[in-house]
Amino acid sequence: GAAELGPYRHYMQKEIFEQPRAIGDTLEGIVNIAPELFDGADGTAAWRVFKEIDQVLILACGTSYYSGCTAKYWLEAIAGIPCAVEVASEYRYRTSVPNPRTLVVTITQSGETADTLAALRHAQSLGMTHTLTICNVGSSAMVRECKLAYITRAGVEIGVASTKAFTTQLAGLFLLTLALAQSKGRLSEEKEQQYLTAMRHLPVALQAVLALEPQVISWAEDFAKMQNALFLGRGAHYPIALEGALKLKEISYIHAEAYPAGELKHGPLALVDSAMPVVTVAPNDELLEKLKSNMQEVRARGGVLYVLADAKTNIESEEGMHVIRMPENYGALSPILHVVPLQLLAYHTAVARGTDVDKPRNLAKSVTVE
Ligand code: G6P
Repeated sequence: GAAELGPYRHYMQKEIFEQPRAIGDTLEGIVNIAPELFDGADGTAAWRVFKEIDQVLILACGTSYYSGCTAKYWLEAIAGIPCAVEVASEYRYRTSVPNPRTLVVTITQSGETADTLAALRHAQSLGMTHTLTICNVGSSAMVRECKLAYITRAGVEIGVASTKAFTTQLAGLFLLTLALAQSKGRLSEEKEQQYLTAMRHLPVALQAVLALEPQVISWAEDFAKMQNALFLGRGAHYPIALEGALKLKEISYIHAEAYPAGELKHGPLALVDSAMPVVTVAPNDELLEKLKSNMQEVRARGGVLYVLADAKTNIESEEGMHVIRMPENYGALSPILHVVPLQLLAYHTAVARGTDVDKPRNLAKSVTVE
């Protein structure tokens, strides 16, 4: 009811603003990276699994699938472990090549999604018994059926479009990346402490991003009039672009798609004109210069850019280019911050269009039947 909503108009908005608390709770009490974070006991079981595996297979649906796509970048770059990510409904029905030394990771807010559970059971039936879930519901079927688990503490999520579950999944997946890096001898104590310090600062960093809401609202006024939108990102921010597009289509019913920015010239550039806003996720990383030339390609075709630029980038607002500047550059954890303005953009665009934000047509919060 209205009392629970407090100052917010919808559960989705409330849940977006709960993210500093949700991430803080999810990471509470962690002073060291250790296998016991994943087995709820003394760590022996998790350590045995982590030592044994030589690859990761992530299985999930929807928004949870995109958190898995983000984690792939972390797992390969930081832990040095090959990682595949698959949509659960595809994996469960295709003929694949099982490797018993795989860590099968399911990601699910509810722990009850039928396809994700079936994909887990399929992997098990192929002899892959090292299973771990990143899940928001400790009493769920998924947690019962997986050997290892990390329970996120997003709290109950009511909005059908997932927000705080996504960012807490990313936090859990980053911890998993560090634990696997440690088990492979790739995490110095110094690095471990640096990463943990950055993680502990996330709630404060998220608060500063949430303060950008008024700027995002002014973007949303433009988007509410559009029929299409394109989202671009590169590297670990490509899945963030995918998630931004998913949020927009789910709740505002605007057709949106995301592309890795380097792929623009292989198709989507043909769609670009003044009626196709192009949202660009622009972290200050080694791909920034390449991203800027992708942005030029859009400008040259009369496309209008909406850029989430990082702190300390010299990307400035100009004709045809709207810039919102992120408060700080956040290195490897940057995807957790960059997704927040995209959640707000979808939310405020939907509000401007008068859609049923918390219960979008045709969609369910938890898809427990196939
Ligand atoms: C539905 C929800 C999405 C969610 C997906 C997977 O489609 O509307 O928000 O991402 O299911 O749900 P899960 O509970 O497995 O994360």
